[in-house]
Amino acid sequence: MLKSVFVYGVLGVLLIPAKCNPISVCVEDDKNLRVDCQIEPKPNKINSYEFSWSTGTKESVINTNVSGSSVESQFKDKSSVVELEPHGYRMTLKDFTDKLPHNTTYMCKITGVPARVTVAKDQLVPCSAVNVFLKSSSSWIACLLLFFYCMHS
Ligand SMILES: *[C@@H]1O[C@H](CO)[C@@H](O)[C@H](O)[C@H]1NC(C)=O
Ligand SMILES: *[C@@H]1O[C@H](CO)[C@@H](O)[C@H](O)[C@H]1NC(C)=O
Repeated sequence: MLKSVFVYGVLGVLLIPAKCNPISVCVEDDKNLRVDCQIEPKPNKINSYEFSWSTGTKESVINTNVSGSSVESQFKDKSSVVELEPHGYRMTLKDFTDKLPHNTTYMCKITGVPARVTVAKDQLVPCSAVNVFLKSSSSWIACLLLFFYCMHS
């Protein structure tokens, strides 16, 4: 019990900033990388998306339907994009682990509006843990209690 509270606490610390960011990154059970980009599209603009990552100096486009942009050849046919409700897009990338550099900045753009988040390779969270965390509000309370307990002891 205490161990799971601790895990939720750690996840909470990792996820609180992530929840305010329109872009989030996690690893699916089948080891695919999932990037959710929930930017509200600008009205009166042609709808488009672009997913990429950057490692310091180099930016690689993983998937896009911006006309004129091209995807880096190593990502061709490796990724897919679906629409999210109420707005935004989810990109999944297969066979990414061997390509992933240590510190990666994940980026997405919807109708030209950008978002970014930097995650170290060993801090990527499983998507299942994110779902459990967001669903179980009672563990939130446990986590808060533990937090205050730790602060005062
Ligand atoms: C990109 O894909 C979205 C969703 O499939 C579509 O609505 C939009 O028109 C596409 N944009 C371009 C520039 O092809
Ligand atoms: C990754 O980023 C962290 C924090 O910014 C830094 O301390 C670390 O040296 C970086 N690692 C690599 C391999 O660039």
